[in-house]
Formats: sequence, C-alpha cells, structure tokens
Amino acid sequence: MDAISVIRTKRDRGRLSDEQIDWVIDAYTRGAVADEQMSALAMAILLNGMDRAEIARWTAAMIASGERMDFSRLTRPTADKHSTGGVGDKITLPLAPLVAACGAAVPQLSGRGLGHTGGTLDKLESIPGWRATLSNEEMLSVLDEVGAVVCAAGDGLAPADKKLYALRDVTGTVEAIPLIASSIMSKKIAEGTGSLVLDVKVGSGAFMKSLEDARELAATMVGLGTDHGVRTVALLTDMSVPLGLTAGNALEVRESVEVLAGGGPADVVELTLALAREMLDAAGLTDADPAKALADGSAMDVWRRMIRAQGGDPDAALPVARETHVVTAPASGVLTGLDAYAVGLAAWRLGAGRARKEDAVQAGAGVELHAKPGATVVQGAPLLTLHTDTPELFAYALEALDGAFTIAAAGSGFSAGRLILD
Ligand code: URA
Repeated sequence: MDAISVIRTKRDRGRLSDEQIDWVIDAYTRGAVADEQMSALAMAILLNGMDRAEIARWTAAMIASGERMDFSRLTRPTADKHSTGGVGDKITLPLAPLVAACGAAVPQLSGRGLGHTGGTLDKLESIPGWRATLSNEEMLSVLDEVGAVVCAAGDGLAPADKKLYALRDVTGTVEAIPLIASSIMSKKIAEGTGSLVLDVKVGSGAFMKSLEDARELAATMVGLGTDHGVRTVALLTDMSVPLGLTAGNALEVRESVEVLAGGGPADVVELTLALAREMLDAAGLTDADPAKALADGSAMDVWRRMIRAQGGDPDAALPVARETHVVTAPASGVLTGLDAYAVGLAAWRLGAGRARKEDAVQAGAGVELHAKPGATVVQGAPLLTLHTDTPELFAYALEALDGAFTIAAAGSGFSAGRLILD
C-alpha cells in the first residue's frame, strides 16, 4: 500500500477500501504518511465526499489509533455533550456542573479554539490557576468525586485525530462533513461515554451554513454513535447570531457564572436547560429537574468544586483587557441583524483566538454586545465594546464588523428566529 494510490482513489472519485483506510490512518499516526500527503487526501475527501461505510471505517480506524477510556468503575451514568462550534458558545461551562448536580457523571473532553470559534479550554484557562491537562487517573478521580470534569483529551486518545485536526485547521479542510463527523465521534467513542448529546450549529457563525448540511452532519454522527453502542441524540441550533452577550475567553466565563447564579442572558439559559434535559434523558435520569438545580445553587456548588479540583480559584478576579473601544449605534431603530461570523472574527482578531497553533490567546480579549436582534437602539448609544491588550488591533477587528449589524426604523417589524431549530 502507498499514500499516492490512496490519494488517487479519492481524487478520482473512487471509494476507499477498508484496507486503504486502515493503512492510511495507521501510517499517518506513525509518521509514515507525510502531512502534505494527508492534506491532499483531506482535500480530496472535502471535494468528493465519503459514503456512510467509508466514514464508519475511517472513524473506527481513528478510534483504533489510540486507547479507549473505561468509566465502568463510576456509579453514576455518564452523559456528555459536544457542540460543533460557534461564537459565544460557552454552554459547556454552566451545563457540565448542572448535569452533574442532577446525578450524571459528565466527562467533558474539550478542545481549543478552531478558526473563528472559541474553545472551552481557552475560556477556562482564564480562571487563575485552572489546569486543562489531567492524567487519565486524575480525570477519573475528579469525575468520581465532583461528578463533572472539563479537560483536554489525553495524548493517547484518538492520536490520529489530534494530528489531522491541526492539519485541517491550516489547509482549508475543516468544513468536510465526513471529516468533522469522524473527528468528533472518534474522540467521543474512545472517551467511553454511555450517552452523548450533539449540539449541531447552523448559520454564519457555524461550520455548517445550511440546515440541510447540518442535518446530514447530525444524522452521520448519530449513526456512528449508535453503531458503537453510545446513546446519541442531536439538536440543531441557530448560530446566525452569537450566543449570549459575550465572545471571548474571560468574558464568557463571567457570563457563564452569571447563568449558574440564576441570571445570565435568556438564550444561554434556554439552550443550557434544553441540552441538560436531553443529556439527563439519554442517561436515564428522567426525573431530574435541571431548572431547579440552577435556581437552588446546586449547579453553582458543583462548578466551584470542579474549578478547585483542577487548581482554579472560583473566587479570583477574572483577567480584564487593558483597553476597550466602544462601537455606538449609527442610527436609532430596531437592531434586526448581528452576524455571528463577524463577531467571532472580531473577537479572534482582538486576540481571543490564535493565528498559529503555538500562539497564546489573550484571556481578556473579545467582544461584548450591548444589544441583540429585536432590541431598540438609540443613535450614539453603545452597541458593542471591543476588549484587547493590543489596541493596534482595534482597526483590524472593526474591519471584520463592517456591515455586521443592521438597524431598521422602529415599527418596521422584526421577528426573532428560533434558537432550537430541530
Ligand atoms: N470539532 C471537532 O472535534 N472536530 C472537527 O472537525 C470540528 C469540530
């Protein structure tokens, strides 16, 4: 077997055989297939697709590239959720402790920012002292004692995906349904969760721009999970507007803590509760009441224990950017549009994300929204505040926001879209 013949098969719109898939994933993991060969294959897959059987084999080969975790010593049922990535998507932060407070064990292996979308680990690292990297033994003990753990996947878990994920980020091959589905599901299946809820994002701020593509991605992932014995369900949710009022690491932690304290933006609370209900159902905990656990402080309790268990101080002040710049409303009226992609890109340009994988992110950088679509705005009043330690970046971020919001005359009619689409 050789890499060139595998690339040619897919370049010429053929089907990859099981043997070709097993070989190329194993050889790439060992370093016997070069990055440039794998990036050519990833581009051929993006352009020509894979059928369900190829995706299933590709996923199985990625799982087999590393170890599988075993949660059988836990007494609680395990429940996990994964979002396909969005702008202001801080839902894991309130959700993991909330579901744990309702009786499930939540092993949340999370990632860093990818493109314009934020990463859960980057957000939590803005809490002084918090550590993303745990050994498998440490992870299991936090899960056992606290009920929820959010940490980086260990090096041994789906190492083929680790290499391929970084390669796709820099070769324009992120947005391929077979590659997204196999990337997410190989990690989740290897992680060993009993049930999984997928939050498949749709809209300008998501990797899937159309409902049709999002449906196909969701169906592919649910099929993969079910075939591997993981109870898997998917929600399709809107990502045409940022979630909540913040995009950026420490800004999103602050907003998540507000939700855990019983406040926070209505859309973040709605999605957190909807996903919690799905996770608890999938885990068989149908009597649990997540709204009560949010209101009575038990989710906040788990959050504080979860942060402390990983070295963080839940009472420490969060980092604040050195400089801010306020964008004001150019006219009075009703805010009718606020583009998620533009806000994500602006936050990324302000330093909340990285341009190269070795770059550090700025904890305080990001965008704070003062209004969401449907709100009445007054000319000259603050619409957005940009935060960064590097004020030279304001102009670059403002360029991303050019045309990002629309304001219509009062009374011209606005109807908000649904957050949960299906
Ligand atoms: N999240 C992943 O883990 N993989 C992808 O390919 C996209 C989002």
